[in-house]
Amino acid sequence: MTTDQDILGRADVNDLEAIIAIANTDVTEVIHTVEDNADAIFTWDYEKGARPALNKLYEKAKTSQWNGETDLDWSIEVDPERIISDLQGSNAAGPFQWVVEHPDSPLKNFGDKEWTELGIESINWRLSQFMHGEQGALICTAKIVETVPWIDAKYYASTQVMDEARHVEVFAKYLQEKCTGYYPVNAHLKMLLDDIVSDSRWDMTYLGMQIMVEGLALAAFGFMHQITDEPLLKKLLRYVMSDEARHVAFGVLSLKEYYAELSDAEMRERQEFTFEAAVRMRDRFLQQEVWERMGVDGRKMVKILLETPPEEQIFQQMLFSKIVPNCKKLGLLDASDAWLRRRFEEIGVIQFEDWADTGEEYLEFDAVSQDRAAASA
Ligand SMILES: [Fe+2]
Ligand SMILES: [Fe+2]
Repeated sequence: MTTDQDILGRADVNDLEAIIAIANTDVTEVIHTVEDNADAIFTWDYEKGARPALNKLYEKAKTSQWNGETDLDWSIEVDPERIISDLQGSNAAGPFQWVVEHPDSPLKNFGDKEWTELGIESINWRLSQFMHGEQGALICTAKIVETVPWIDAKYYASTQVMDEARHVEVFAKYLQEKCTGYYPVNAHLKMLLDDIVSDSRWDMTYLGMQIMVEGLALAAFGFMHQITDEPLLKKLLRYVMSDEARHVAFGVLSLKEYYAELSDAEMRERQEFTFEAAVRMRDRFLQQEVWERMGVDGRKMVKILLETPPEEQIFQQMLFSKIVPNCKKLGLLDASDAWLRRRFEEIGVIQFEDWADTGEEYLEFDAVSQDRAAASA
């Protein structure tokens, strides 16, 4: 039987010491190499549209391309303090309210100045990690072009490679030109990306990237898009989401077919991988590097954040609002005696299981077509 020690490298999901021990030890690193352990697969079956749902997605992707240089207005001046006051609204502590009230809280003496500073660092950090995740998606999707055996999936994945290049490009440009530069990759995120890229099985690339990393990104972008009024960031997020919704659909539609054929033992391996990814993503949102930069006791912060009761973690939970219904659609929740269902209960995210899955949702998200139709009307 596989234990949490085998899956996560620690016996207790909330082991404080083990979590903070995962830190980026080389922040000046420029090149990072990962063995990708995969065979490049040719197929001689060129029948286009053998998988109609993937073919439809491919045709949609071809007409919804956009240009990060010309479709966004980079002349817009960005005031980071404005973004933060929009995000924080009337309550500067926002998602950290419970932490502030904790008797050991390192944030209890925060005034307006510190809250604004924390807000700016947090958004810089968050956008930076999204940028690194986008590069992960670029690499994973290039790998899928090589490893997936179906021609319709190779065609579609090639359009996603272009989408991801554009996403890395626009996030990097926003951080460099409109913010104060970017944070290095978070060690939990890096660990997850390395795991996804190095797995030899083609479906694991999809599961880790399209279902987990991109599922989380789609929920997080949606949340940020809703609450920011900064026009450049708002349009950037709206256009990125328009692509991201297709990417998650690509994962759901491809794996639905493949997972229907797998044995319970094979499904269990996928469940464990899903759980590992979920925990790594939760760990990254502890944002250790931000506490460090703010001069706040990071160990204390991580400890309090890990103790926060589930009802106080609405933002963290919302990040799973796309992932859980998609896992359900793929049969991952209830295979192997509902192993993943129980694990999602433990980490407090099972409540999303009946929310809309992302198999078809991409048509509603297609902001690029909507704007073009409006412009030509
Ligand atoms: Fe992306
Ligand atoms: Fe994506």
